[in-house]
Amino acid sequence: MNLAELDTPVLLVNKDLLSRNLRRMEKMAASAAIAYRPHAKAHKSYEIAKLQLSHGASGICCAKLGEAEVLVSEGIKDILITTPVIGVSKLTRLATLMSQSDAKVVVESYENIREMELVGRSKEVTLNVVIEVNVGQNRCGSKPGQPTLELAKIIAASPWLSLVGLQGYQGAIQMVVDSEERKIKAKKASSLLLETKKLIQKNSIDIPILTGGGTGTSKIDACGQVLTEIQPGGYIFMDARYGDIQWGDGNKIPFEQSLTVLGSVISRPDSKRAIVDVGLKSISSDQGVPKLANIECASFQFAGEEHGEVIYDNGACPLNIGDKISLIPTHCDTTVNLYDHLIVYSGESVTDVWKIGARGRSQ
Ligand SMILES: Cc1ncc(COP(=O)(O)O)c(C=O)c1O
Repeated sequence: MNLAELDTPVLLVNKDLLSRNLRRMEKMAASAAIAYRPHAKAHKSYEIAKLQLSHGASGICCAKLGEAEVLVSEGIKDILITTPVIGVSKLTRLATLMSQSDAKVVVESYENIREMELVGRSKEVTLNVVIEVNVGQNRCGSKPGQPTLELAKIIAASPWLSLVGLQGYQGAIQMVVDSEERKIKAKKASSLLLETKKLIQKNSIDIPILTGGGTGTSKIDACGQVLTEIQPGGYIFMDARYGDIQWGDGNKIPFEQSLTVLGSVISRPDSKRAIVDVGLKSISSDQGVPKLANIECASFQFAGEEHGEVIYDNGACPLNIGDKISLIPTHCDTTVNLYDHLIVYSGESVTDVWKIGARGRSQ
């Protein structure tokens, strides 16, 4: 099938650009001799997770238990859930998941640890945990140093919990444009994690894994000799916003925008505007309006849940009813979550259709 024959709006991924992104991250991690565990919150798809593993990834991250359940049911085994899973109902599901796979989950509160221990005991399953440390984002995470040591001691004393590492993710710095500033901030975050690890190890508790970082700090973290694994997510598709960050030494970020939404012109209300079938329900708006791909002198604006406008400010709109337009999402994660399938293409031809099996699995 040709792209022009697809019903729209539809989510597309360019196979060649995706392959290049996969190879570049593989090469970056291999040359720094660091493991990488890509974050599936970006793609929510078994097909892409499988490709990442075949490109050297040591495992996969999921944001939510529901995402991890889908990927484990489809065949992925080594998963780190990077958001705390709380409450007996979910922890019971977690125990089942861990009995079927090599899953791990972050923890950062006494309440959560106590509940986990009870569930582990009643299900007779040892739960693998990673303590999430707040290394600057001020979202989740225990305080670095002594407070994290206290949690580590409780976990180490439990027969139903196994402490496998620390996570420190500083999401707020991933898109800092200036590469030096990003580097300084990333080093600060990883040194908080390292000091905490040393303190815990001084107390005879082993910390095999130090995990964290995203696409924006991937090179810094890979070469930083602190983390044992990095967690890049967006590199696979690249948010339009990532295109603006500096990579250092005058280079641009080495990953390319592989994800687009294809829409169609459905109305031509006047000489300067085309109305398209891509609105708030078919491309994300949380990080700003999408960019038009391959159209220079026009801008895109949302015109409701089902509609968008392509506006030619300085001339006549050349688009006709039925013409296709291509949009680059400003945020891939929230765009992917709107679709059941990814249409994979090369040139103008559709080569595959991949299920986005974990979309909507936010519980
Ligand atoms: C814990 C964690 N690790 C890694 C990532 C990946 O970040 P990015 O998509 O910027 O590569 C995220 C993204 O939000 C995250 O929450």
